[in-house]
Amino acid sequence: MKIERVEARAIPDTRGKPTVEVTLHALCIPGMHKEATASEVGGHPVSTHASVPSGKSTGSHEACELRDADGGVETAVANVEGEIARALCARKWNSPDEIDGALIALDGTPNKSRLGANAILAVSIAAQRLFAQEANVPLWKAIAERAGTTPGAPRLYVNVMNGGVHADFRLPFQEYILVCEGRTSAAFAAARAAFDALGATLGNVPMGEEGGYSPTFETLQEPFELLAALVAEHAGTSIAIDAAANELLSEGAYRLLAETYAPDALMRLYEDLASRFPFHSIEDPFSEDAGADFARLTAALRGTCLVVGDDFTVTNPARIAHAAREEAISAVLIKPNQIGSVKEAIEAVEATHAAGWAAICSHRSGETDDTFIADFAYGVGAEGIKAGGLGQKQRLEKYERLLEIEKEAEAV
Ligand code: PGA
Ligand code: ZN
Repeated sequence: MKIERVEARAIPDTRGKPTVEVTLHALCIPGMHKEATASEVGGHPVSTHASVPSGKSTGSHEACELRDADGGVETAVANVEGEIARALCARKWNSPDEIDGALIALDGTPNKSRLGANAILAVSIAAQRLFAQEANVPLWKAIAERAGTTPGAPRLYVNVMNGGVHADFRLPFQEYILVCEGRTSAAFAAARAAFDALGATLGNVPMGEEGGYSPTFETLQEPFELLAALVAEHAGTSIAIDAAANELLSEGAYRLLAETYAPDALMRLYEDLASRFPFHSIEDPFSEDAGADFARLTAALRGTCLVVGDDFTVTNPARIAHAAREEAISAVLIKPNQIGSVKEAIEAVEATHAAGWAAICSHRSGETDDTFIADFAYGVGAEGIKAGGLGQKQRLEKYERLLEIEKEAEAV
């Protein structure tokens, strides 16, 4: 692979905030010999794009999303077109891992704060696409071959009701999720029917930032009663939440509606909810550094309901391995932009599966129309994918890509 030109620009995400988009122009040479130049072996030109999402309820241990003082990404864009472009165009590349390794070394910081995780990840995804095109295979297949994984359809975690920081706390938890099992086409059909039925029940309510309904209720229980009714109507579905508890913490206790819960009381609340409703998983039940509380809840809910780390593990292979030693969780959210390269996101999936845990790949609350996460989830054989509600185009595009992959996989 010979990269000839690198372009970057700021584009708006779903919140209208700028994020990084990259275009790579290259000469692809299947079976390229290291010493031969592209023109000697007759390479063909290929261009790929990638854009990166942006979180709002971020963990403090995430890789650094480089922002200018005014919130822009002009420095990150300039880093791609300057230093990164020079490094990419200076030599030939044999694999996407080689490129990611070089980007990580070029940045030289533990959290990608010099060049920006947003700059590096956009390049890393576009580079992965170049190599898929060079090998003439679908993106998910190239990822599976790179990762040494068995590809397969993830469960759909559909965020049907949005709360927390994604909806001005109209609902106390950040995400009320319907988990849909089975073949993507069957799971998506159930999600669509349940989402529309919920919409009809709720009537005219605001939407949240992730394309789910955002009603208000008097009590903590009511949204779960609605979800349980959907589960009863739609086979192969169950309930999950993302508590995003970092955002609930205030002076050592967690605020839900007008109540304050000490960690022990919050633990009892989760145990009570999981015993009364058909729960599949609870994400970030406590704040990002409350490892002992995670471990106690995981033990208490073993066999009943998964405990998922997000801000707690931040897609960081070392933090996941540490959580494994502590038996702190039973599933891990995988967000490539929390770590900043495809290579390390694959390593995070490896660490997750090495612990015997489920990997749930995830979009962010600020999204673009890039559907990489769908190919990534399918390629690494993730147990789940979180891609938001069905009320926003950029969320639907991820599900539509999964439906396309289902067809591609049958044809391969
Ligand atoms: P974020 O939220 O993208 O705003 O961080 C998603 C999540 O917490 O899972
Ligand atoms: Zn989360």
